[in-house]
Amino acid sequence: MTRILCVCLGNICRSPTAEAVLRQMDPMLTVDSAGTGDWHIGSPPYAPAIAAGKARGYDLSTLRARQFSASDFARFDLILAMDSANLDSIEALRPSGSDTPVRLFLDFADGFQGQDIPDPYFTRDFNGALDLVETAASGLLTTLGRN
Ligand code: 4NP
Repeated sequence: MTRILCVCLGNICRSPTAEAVLRQMDPMLTVDSAGTGDWHIGSPPYAPAIAAGKARGYDLSTLRARQFSASDFARFDLILAMDSANLDSIEALRPSGSDTPVRLFLDFADGFQGQDIPDPYFTRDFNGALDLVETAASGLLTTLGRN
C-alpha cells in the first residue's frame, strides 16, 4: 500500500497540500494528486495554499494540477478523497472489476471520521485545512504501519 493518490475538486488547494505533507512525512511513498474538475489543469497550486504550506516547511510550488481519470484506479493502491463530493465523483469513474480502495482522507484522523476537509478556496481557512491534512496524514501513516 505505497502508491497513494490525493484527490480534491480543483487540485490547487487541498490535494496538493495533502500530496506535499504525505511526501514529506514519508519520502518512500509514491504520492500524487489530482482534481475531479478540469479548470486548473497545468496550473501550480493556489498562492495562499503554497504560502500556508511553506510556512510549515512544505513545498507545493513545483506541483501542477491534473484531472483525475479512470486510469488512476490501476495506478494507485489507495485513493484519498478530500470530501464526500470528490469521493462520489471518483466512484462514478471506477472501472468494472477495480477494487482499489477510495476513502475519505479524514477517515484516518482520530475524531474526524466521515468528515470533509472544508475547501479553503471558499472558506479562506488555509491553516485550518493544513491542520486537518497533517492530522489525517499522520493517522494514515500509523494505519499503514509506517510511523
Ligand atoms: P481544491 O479547491 O478542490 O481544494 O483545490 C478548489 C479550488 C478551485 C476551485 C474549486 C475548488 N474552482 O472552482 O476553481
